Amino acid sequence: MEKVKVGILISGRGSNMKALVEACRDAEFPAQVVMVLSNKPDALGLEFARQNNIKTAVINHRDFSSRQEFDAAMTLELEKAGVEIICLAGFMRLLSPQFVEHWLDRLINIHPSLLPEFKGANAVGDAIKAGAIKSGCTVHYVRAEMDEGPSIIHAEVEVLATDTQETLSAKILKEEHKIYPLALKAVCEKFTTN
Ligand code: GRF
Repeated sequence: MEKVKVGILISGRGSNMKALVEACRDAEFPAQVVMVLSNKPDALGLEFARQNNIKTAVINHRDFSSRQEFDAAMTLELEKAGVEIICLAGFMRLLSPQFVEHWLDRLINIHPSLLPEFKGANAVGDAIKAGAIKSGCTVHYVRAEMDEGPSIIHAEVEVLATDTQETLSAKILKEEHKIYPLALKAVCEKFTTN
């Protein structure tokens, strides 16, 4: 089977990246991870990628004077590796409209809320603060506005009165690791039939 070449962008821990890499090990899974790229040289997830013989790249945003130049450098690196679809997995930089346009419908993200609720970097804390009784996670196509874009799949979790940011994050993360591979599979299947 011809597999779709995927690049994963991270900034930190990389547990979603790990879930995607593990899903791709299945011969029947329609994707293969050809690059893990981080904007942070010390991102923990890079170590896992290296140990699993996945090509890694570090492009430090601090080395660039504009977002657009940083994004263009990423595109160059990703295309050199043959990347066709990008998964954002805890990548903590906003992307330029040019980058989003270049990768339109080939760029997906996971967010720890039921979008469009609780956009932004503190989605789990915000859900607790708002007294939400359910929350969850969403995989969506990326658009230029933060946490916008057509939803691909979501999973719900119950928020208990006793939940803290930590316990709720852990419950949501467990679901993230299940739905991100499912979303990637669906996106790859669509990509190859188009
Ligand atoms: C996840 O909660 C994801 O939803 C958000 O950033 C976090 C990344 O965690 N976008 P990890 O690096 O994948 O462990």
